[in-house]
Amino acid sequence: IKHLRSAADLDAETATLILDTAAEMAALSGREVKKLPALRGRTVVNLFYEDSTRTRISFEAAAKRLSADVINFSAKGSSVSKGESLKDTALTLQAMGADAVVIRHSASGAPHRLANWVDGSVVNAGDGTHEHPTQALLDAYTMRSRLGRLDGLKVAIVGDVLHSRVARSNVLLLTTLGAQVTVVGPPTLIPLDVAAALSEKTQVSFDLDAVLPDSDVVMMLRVQTERMQDSYFPSAREYSRRYGLDVPRLHKMPEHAIVMHPGPMNRGMEIAPEVADSPRSTIVEQVANGVSVRMAVLYLLLGGK
Ligand code: CP
Repeated sequence: IKHLRSAADLDAETATLILDTAAEMAALSGREVKKLPALRGRTVVNLFYEDSTRTRISFEAAAKRLSADVINFSAKGSSVSKGESLKDTALTLQAMGADAVVIRHSASGAPHRLANWVDGSVVNAGDGTHEHPTQALLDAYTMRSRLGRLDGLKVAIVGDVLHSRVARSNVLLLTTLGAQVTVVGPPTLIPLDVAAALSEKTQVSFDLDAVLPDSDVVMMLRVQTERMQDSYFPSAREYSRRYGLDVPRLHKMPEHAIVMHPGPMNRGMEIAPEVADSPRSTIVEQVANGVSVRMAVLYLLLGGK
């Protein structure tokens, strides 16, 4: 594939190749191989129109570990504030010889538009409420490395599904790889038409306590208050009582089950601090795995040697 705009771009074979390549990248890092020459002479542009900590830093680290030249573009402080369009910004980057453009944008579909304007590969680093495919890949990688498989794994994705690009990409990727996904949350944050559109293979539940005992993975989502309208969200306390993962709920999960969160977290709302920091939590591991997974994506898209 040339671009990674959606988890739907990946069939099971390609997704597994990315996860296997990421495992090789992680093994090399574990053997103290700090830098690989694979992308020497290639240029990766990180084009961030929306804030990011994990994704931006890990794409930069991944490209540098592959010896690529990296240009970091942040809309803040650029000519975007003077009204320059995404297309003109893209054409400027094209003129600088970008081999890959990693884009985060608040508009769903921005990576698809960008791919029409640049010759290089486009990687979606999160577009609006639409998708975040490399987050889904690093989540799948983390599940596979902790639990040994993806096929048949029971994964609960909990919370603000409506606004979550992480949920959408995870549902697409995990079902492609044979996992059984249940999305859980209040009805206002999982309209049934949205759930149906996510995947025919996905189940829906409004009852977290009923789902926990039969889950191998519980992935908590950030409540995206910045995208929320009042009618969607009664109160933080009520949400936390019904859908927050606290210590008593952690004890309802099977002993082998893991807790995930893509970050950033609202500690005390969707997840209790004691749960986020517990040995069952893979939150820090997910961030570390993100570098290996993004190395694999850049390496495979750019035909690294
Ligand atoms: N998980 C994630 O996308 O985090 P950032 O917004 O910090 O990149």
